[in-house]
Amino acid sequence: MGTTKNTELRSTGWFGQEGKLGFIHRSWLKNQGTPHEMFDGRPVIGIANSWSDLTPCNAHLRRVAEHVKRGVYRAGGYPLEFPTMSLGETIMRPSTMLFRNLMSMDVEETLRANPIDGVVLLAGCDKTTPAQLMGAASVDLPTIMVTGGPMLSGRWQGKAIGSGTDVWRFSEEVRAGKMSGTDFTAAEACMSRSQGHCMTMGTASTMACITEALGLAPSGSAAIPATDARRFTVAEHAGQQIVDLVRDDLRFSQIATRAAFENAIRANAAIGGSTNAVLHLLALAGRLEVPLELEDFDRLARDVPTLVNLMPSGQYLMEDFYYAGGLPAVMRQIDHLLNQDVITVDQHSLAENLARAEHWNADVIRPATDPLLPAGTGTAVLRGNLCPSGAVVKQSAASPDLMRHRGRALVFDSIEEYDEAVDDPSLEVDASTVLVVRYAGPSGYPGMPEIGNLALPRKLLEQGVTDMVRISDARMSGTSYGTVILHAAPEAAVGGPISLVRTGDWIELDVPARTLTLDVDEAELDRRRAAWSPPRPAAERGYVRMYIDHVQQADRGCDLDFLLGGSGAPVPRRPF
Ligand code: FES
Ligand code: MG
Repeated sequence: MGTTKNTELRSTGWFGQEGKLGFIHRSWLKNQGTPHEMFDGRPVIGIANSWSDLTPCNAHLRRVAEHVKRGVYRAGGYPLEFPTMSLGETIMRPSTMLFRNLMSMDVEETLRANPIDGVVLLAGCDKTTPAQLMGAASVDLPTIMVTGGPMLSGRWQGKAIGSGTDVWRFSEEVRAGKMSGTDFTAAEACMSRSQGHCMTMGTASTMACITEALGLAPSGSAAIPATDARRFTVAEHAGQQIVDLVRDDLRFSQIATRAAFENAIRANAAIGGSTNAVLHLLALAGRLEVPLELEDFDRLARDVPTLVNLMPSGQYLMEDFYYAGGLPAVMRQIDHLLNQDVITVDQHSLAENLARAEHWNADVIRPATDPLLPAGTGTAVLRGNLCPSGAVVKQSAASPDLMRHRGRALVFDSIEEYDEAVDDPSLEVDASTVLVVRYAGPSGYPGMPEIGNLALPRKLLEQGVTDMVRISDARMSGTSYGTVILHAAPEAAVGGPISLVRTGDWIELDVPARTLTLDVDEAELDRRRAAWSPPRPAAERGYVRMYIDHVQQADRGCDLDFLLGGSGAPVPRRPF
C-alpha cells in the first residue's frame, strides 16, 4: 500500500503513491520534461480541448489552452491538456446531435480515469459546449468552461451578415431569383472571416451565454470575440481560478444548482436564445439531478422581455454585443428576476458580478423599459393531441400574424421527400398550408437534425410569401427564423401522434393558449394508430444502435437513459 503526501486531492491517488505504481504514473509523464516537483501534491488541472480541424469553430482552441496553462502554472498547479471528441456542426452528418451524448461519455470517462483534480473545458461550436458540460457534470469536479468566442462580424457589400441567419435568407433569395449564384458564392468568404463560432445569437453564442449565466464560465467572457486579446486573458485567469476552486473544493454541482438553472433560463429569454438550449439544459439538469421540466422554460420566461437585438431575432452581431457590455449588462437589466445570491466560478455571487456590469449601447442591448420584444415572446412550450409530451416555438423569430393559425396539413415522411417537392410548381400548397415533416426526431432520423425550418415552396416564394407554419419532430438551427414548431414529442418513429397526421387534416396552432391541435377525432386517430407500424431502426449495430435504443425524447433533453445522474470522481482501482 502506498502512502499519500496529500490526502485531499484525488491526483495523489496516482502521483503520491510509493513503489511501482507511483514510479509508473510519474515516470512516463517525465518523458515530457516534467520536473519531479510537479508531483508534490499540487492541484492537477485537466484542460479538456475540443480542438479539431474538423470543427472550424474550435480550430483556435490550442492557443486558448496555452493561455490556460500559463494561469495554472502561475497559481501553482500542474496543467495537463487532453483532446476530447469534437463535433463540427457544419460538417458532420447526419447530425451532431447524434454524437453529443457520445462526446459527453468521452469527457466523463477521461476525467474519472485520470489524475485530474479540476478541469477547464474548452469548447465553442454548438454541441461541444453542452457535451463537455454534461460529461463534467457526471464527474462533479471543480470545473470552469472557457468558450472559444464568436467570429468577428460578417461583412458583405458594406452590410453586416450573420452566420447561418443570412445563409437561410440568401438561399431563399437565390431560389426566388433575387440573388445571383456569383453573389451567393462571394458571400461565403465574407460571412466566416475569422476564427470563432457563429456570431449570431445561434446555439453556440446561446450556450456560451447560458454557461456564463449558470456561473460555470467567467463573468463577462461569453461575448468576447475569438480573436480579441482579452479572450486569452480570460483563459489565463481561468487557469488561475481553477486552481483556487480545487483548493476550495468548489464543485460543478455547487454552482449549477436549480437557482442557477432558473437564471440561465431567464437569461436565455432575455438574449432571444436558441431553442436548442431547451434540450441541452434539460439534459444537463438530468446529469445533476436538478429538477427541471419543459414547462419551466415557458413559465420562467413569461415575465422576461427580449433585450438583445441580435440576429436572428434582431439586427446586430456578437461583436456588437461585446462592445455593448455583453451578458452582464443584460442580466443587470433583469436582475430583479434573478437569484443573485448564487456563487459562480469567479468565487463571487452573481450580485457581485453584476455590480461591475457596464452598459454602453442601448440599441444593441435594450433597456428593460424599451425592450426589443415584450415579455412573454420568448420560447413557448405547446401541448395538445399532436404533441402530448410538448413542442416548442421561438416566438421572437416567428411571425406575429401566424401565432394563431388554422390550416390544412401537407405531410412528408422525410426531408428528402420534401426536397423533391419543394420546387414543384404543381405542389398543392398555399400560404395557409401547415407543412409537416416527421420521422426526423432523436431516434427516427437518427439524431434530430436541424431541418425544422423547412425552405418555403418555390411557388410561394415567387408570390412573396415569407413565412408559413411548419411542424416537425426535428430541431432548427439557433440561427434560423420563421413560425417553426419544433421538438414535437413523442416523435413519429416511436409512434407519437405526429405519425398519424394525414395530408388535408386540419391543424390548429394557438401560441397564446400554448396549444397545438390536430382536428381529427379520437376514434379516427385510434384507427390510424392500429394501422401504424414502427420504421426499421436506422442502424443495426454500434453506437448509433445504442443511441436509438436508449435516447430519451425531446422533453427530457435527448440524453441516453442510462446516462442520467453522475458517478462522482472516486479514484478507480489500480491497473497494474
Ligand atoms: Fe459552429 Fe455555428 S457552426 S457555432
Ligand atoms: Mg447552429
